[in-house]
Amino acid sequence: MKTFNDPKKLQRWAAAQRLAGKKIALVPTMGALHEGHLSLIAAAKKKGADEIVVSVFVNPTQFGPKEDYAQYPRDHKADAAKCRAAGATAIFFPTPENMYAPDHSVWMVEDGALSGSLCGARRPGHFRGVCTVVAKLFNLTHPNFAVFGQKDYQQATIIRRMVRDMNFDLEIVVAPIVREPSGLARSSRNAYLSDAERESALALSRALQKLKKLTAEGPRPWKALQRETWIALDRAGLRTDYVEAVNADTLAPVRKLDKGVVVLLAAYAGKTRLIDNAVM
Ligand code: PAF
Repeated sequence: MKTFNDPKKLQRWAAAQRLAGKKIALVPTMGALHEGHLSLIAAAKKKGADEIVVSVFVNPTQFGPKEDYAQYPRDHKADAAKCRAAGATAIFFPTPENMYAPDHSVWMVEDGALSGSLCGARRPGHFRGVCTVVAKLFNLTHPNFAVFGQKDYQQATIIRRMVRDMNFDLEIVVAPIVREPSGLARSSRNAYLSDAERESALALSRALQKLKKLTAEGPRPWKALQRETWIALDRAGLRTDYVEAVNADTLAPVRKLDKGVVVLLAAYAGKTRLIDNAVM
């Protein structure tokens, strides 16, 4: 497995691979790799990538001033070992300094149609940072496709739109959420949770399961279910941030819970903000 720190060197290597006819997959991550990330590498392998490039970069521009940029778990050695074992062929560890010039001034911004609600509304500037770094990673790795996780549903939807609207010549693959046996969605931020918070956090996947079951029986008005879900999360000890049901493509709120609708949840367990979602 090759290791790159220098964006220019990665870019030259990736361009040479494309020229040689290799199929490149990009798996963008912020590191602290877990089963969820490894499933993205597995999806890249399954799709027949010759080169699987995993980027590991805690991107400062997608964190708000009061968020966990400084505490975000970082373990390059463990991440490299996991990538190698999972079959990645290259890993990229850039630094904020070599990714962003001191006078960096051009950003990739979604106009709010997709990023104005849900996490975008609560984390101002977050998707500007995500889109910018992902666009940079596309330019550095020349991928035929890039794999994202469904856990960040809004992110995957925005990236897909960015690829369409900016004519990036690549395919976006979205891999299913990987859960712990308890049902908790795998996340690098789960490392912050105490035992009690972990227990409370199970309310997220339980609520989604319940809503899925109800929807299988037929469409239902969303408002009452939204309120019930909010209360159930709060009762489990979480501080609910949002409970939303949206159209799977446009992220527009819906009034009826029905098959194909996506329910997205965000809640704090202590100081840790967790998100989860399910397609009904
Ligand atoms: O999903 C993440 O881990 C990040 O938002 C991403 C896509 C790697 C961009 O920093």
